[in-house]
Amino acid sequence: MNFHTRKWVKPEDLNPNGSLFGGSLLRWIDEEAAIYAISQLGNQRVVTKFMSEINFVSSARQGDIIELGITATHFGRTSITLRAEVRNKITRKSILTVEKMVFVNLNEQGEPVPHGRTKIRYADELFEAYRRDQGGVEAPKVSDDDLMEEVAEEAAH
Ligand SMILES: CC(C)(COP(=O)(O)OP(=O)(O)OC[C@H]1O[C@@H](n2cnc3c(N)ncnc32)[C@H](O)[C@@H]1OP(=O)(O)O)[C@@H](O)C(=O)NCCC(=O)NCCS
Repeated sequence: MNFHTRKWVKPEDLNPNGSLFGGSLLRWIDEEAAIYAISQLGNQRVVTKFMSEINFVSSARQGDIIELGITATHFGRTSITLRAEVRNKITRKSILTVEKMVFVNLNEQGEPVPHGRTKIRYADELFEAYRRDQGGVEAPKVSDDDLMEEVAEEAAH
């Protein structure tokens, strides 16, 4: 699982108890997962269809730095299933897990349409696809450090 997105818990993200508000966390996770699904399926028209049980394992406090991780666990015909985890960046303590988030690939009419994907695409493949879609336009370079970080993260989880 890759933990690419980091968030700094600020006063506006807190509940009256002084800890991270669950609604803020869910908004961040839904957005992160949607971006992941869009990247994997190569289509901006994806919608959240289903979220399984959400387990708030521990809380975060103001000033904590947290990181959001997503990975694909299943490629269906029109859907993709993801697993999400949020953890404290410093202590690595788990804050939230969502075992199953299903996103559906849609056509212009908003109907489910097959996406043709069967396995996870990594950054280099995604940029290659972007280059093809743009008709040979130079894509942003992925640094070796980014790729190494991705490989290391995948190996560690
Ligand atoms: C997404 C939507 C178009 C799907 O319509 P639908 O009639 O359920 O479509 P289908 O029955 O063809 O199912 C589409 C896919 O979702 C999966 N799916 C449907 N219901 C599911 C559920 N409860 N749990 C998990 N997967 C489900 C199906 O298995 C199918 O995947 P597959 O093709 O990979 O096997 C429709 O439900 C919708 O518009 N929902 C609202 C989405 C939304 O507004 N989300 C919030 C904002 S992003």
